[in-house]
Amino acid sequence: MDRRRILIIGRNGQVGWELRRTLAPLGGVVAIDFPEIDLTDGSSVRRWLTETRPALVVNAAAYTAVDRAESEPEKCHLINAVAPGILAQEARKLDALLVHYSTDYVFDGAKAGGGGYLEDDPTRPLGVYGRSKLAGDLAVLEAGGRHLIFRLCWVYGTRGQNFLLTIMRLARDRETLRVVRDQVGCPTWSRMIAEATALAVQQTLAAPDPAAFTGLYHLAASGRTSWHGFAEAIVRAMPPEGRKCTGVEPIATAEYPTAAKRPAFSVLCCDKLKRTFGLQLPDWHESLLAALDVEREPPLAVARASAASPQPALSPGGPEGPRSGPEPLRTGDGRGGTSTP
Ligand SMILES: NC(=O)c1ccc[n+]([C@@H]2O[C@H](COP(=O)([O-])OP(=O)(O)OC[C@H]3O[C@@H](n4cnc5c(N)ncnc54)[C@H](OP(=O)(O)O)[C@@H]3O)[C@@H](O)[C@H]2O)c1
Repeated sequence: MDRRRILIIGRNGQVGWELRRTLAPLGGVVAIDFPEIDLTDGSSVRRWLTETRPALVVNAAAYTAVDRAESEPEKCHLINAVAPGILAQEARKLDALLVHYSTDYVFDGAKAGGGGYLEDDPTRPLGVYGRSKLAGDLAVLEAGGRHLIFRLCWVYGTRGQNFLLTIMRLARDRETLRVVRDQVGCPTWSRMIAEATALAVQQTLAAPDPAAFTGLYHLAASGRTSWHGFAEAIVRAMPPEGRKCTGVEPIATAEYPTAAKRPAFSVLCCDKLKRTFGLQLPDWHESLLAALDVEREPPLAVARASAASPQPALSPGGPEGPRSGPEPLRTGDGRGGTSTP
């Protein structure tokens, strides 16, 4: 019997990378990224769908540079708003299930306190990125096909460019870091997102009514913290021999001006995900420690070489370590205020 065909768009992104592994048991995965597909070009999107004819499409690609989006609104809109609509229309023609990711930045952060934002709370994005993602969600809904939209929060991973790796790099080089304390959210490991996605998809595809679970869900780690709390936890978990940093100073958002305004409160209530699929992500701190265990593991080839000929101890970032080039502090999705003294 033919295996179900799964198309993952955004293979090299934080979430897309993890999805390649977690979705593999559910079917034959075709994973693509720019430039094989260009989400600014509708014909490229349509061609991939008509040629691969997948039963499941997972869109993990997006324009995620929150600050840059303020000066590139058209490109951001094409990728985050127009392309998801086209994907949803094409998926519907094929009767395929579409999985799409959204963001906590569709909210303005005014709901501070309580159990966090619910799926049907009023949205009011503060910037171009949030507006484009919200428009993408609406386009998927309007297409009227089978879909799962997962709204994520503060995504990090052990590869790519993100807050975790940026803080680790800075903590190796600098004695003090200054990080904003007045933005609160749920740091969520991309691997957990991919695991939860696979489990929710499996249940959806197995349901007698194919449209049974169609809808929008909040998907984030349990608990909450500030960017400052997240940074402190990262630095504390680093082995002392690998770090120069002795303290993380809390600063106010006003002390770290950025092109895009960010919500002060981004906590997502994930009760609907739990009620519907029986899924609940672990506490953000527990996941962070698990992610750091993975980050410290040397790649297999290096481990084999080390076993054959003893080497000096590896740095905490593994043999390649996190990127430490001169690039500015891009923290995946442009999140997290880190300021350099
Ligand atoms: N990161 C966060 O903190 C966060 C928080 C909430 C929600 N989300 C959402 O979660 C999803 C996954 O985010 P992520 O952090 O995994 O994203 P990511 O690491 O930034 O990866 C995005 C991927 O999209 C690709 N892409 C960009 N422009 C493209 C284009 N024109 N055509 C085709 N592919 C293109 C990128 O390729 P290049 O690298 O070549 O540009 C990259 O591989 C996104 O929908 C994002 O909006 C993210």
